[in-house]
Amino acid sequence: MTFKEQIDKERIPRHVAVIMDGNGRWAKSKGEDRIFGHQNGVDSVDQVSEAAGEIGVKYLTLYAFSTENWNRPEAEVDALMGLLVDAIKNNVRKMMKNNVRLLVIGDINRLPQMTREKLQDAMSETGQNTGLNLVLALSYSSRWEILNATKKIAQSVKEGKIQIEDIDETLFSDNLTTVGIPDPDLLIRTSGELRISNFLMWQLSYSELYFTDICWPEFKKEPFFEAIVDYQKRERRFGKTSEQIVK
Ligand code: FPP
Repeated sequence: MTFKEQIDKERIPRHVAVIMDGNGRWAKSKGEDRIFGHQNGVDSVDQVSEAAGEIGVKYLTLYAFSTENWNRPEAEVDALMGLLVDAIKNNVRKMMKNNVRLLVIGDINRLPQMTREKLQDAMSETGQNTGLNLVLALSYSSRWEILNATKKIAQSVKEGKIQIEDIDETLFSDNLTTVGIPDPDLLIRTSGELRISNFLMWQLSYSELYFTDICWPEFKKEPFFEAIVDYQKRERRFGKTSEQIVK
């Protein structure tokens, strides 16, 4: 039986977040340069987005470029931005056909103008779609996001718009770039690294974590479905006891 056939359609995670890791190492293992790994990673982005849509996941967030990634060699940063623009150009039609809505989280003002424009066009074109929400995390890091939210809230307090007592989890969440997006049910990280790496640290508080040794360029539909099957074996208690959980 394939992993896809083992999936319980009644218990599909609403939001899956992915740290797409291992492009560089995968390429190196084949005697190629890092950019070859990123190029091959684009096909995994396509396949995993399609797989998520097929089983009815509502939000898929992909960590495509972190704040720290700006420190990589200029040629690699340029190649990643180029791949992103091409991927969007080549995929808007498919996103329309598959009812996918594109969203972006992160400090998009740091992205090159061309990349920003292409993203904005694709976001408005797909804005009315009601199937999968494909969320790209670009120039994103959790610490940046949390500091940003803190500054916005402090400003509102300073201007007398809110009181310190009004600051609660809902207000804080509403000031993050993920406003309106439910917290991830499942986080997948590829390539055998066991870290969160500054990704969605507020939002992952109760997420199930899944790590696989497969590098991102080889992470296609079946490995994704395997992660979903594994997730469905977990019992999510949110701090309660097992007996308190309604089965
Ligand atoms: C991590 O591998 C991957 C990235 C930093 C970039 C991911 C980007 C893509 C898959 C391509 C473009 C994206 C989209 C959404 C079309 P790594 O370079 O850190 O690998 P390593 O840990 O082996 O060095």
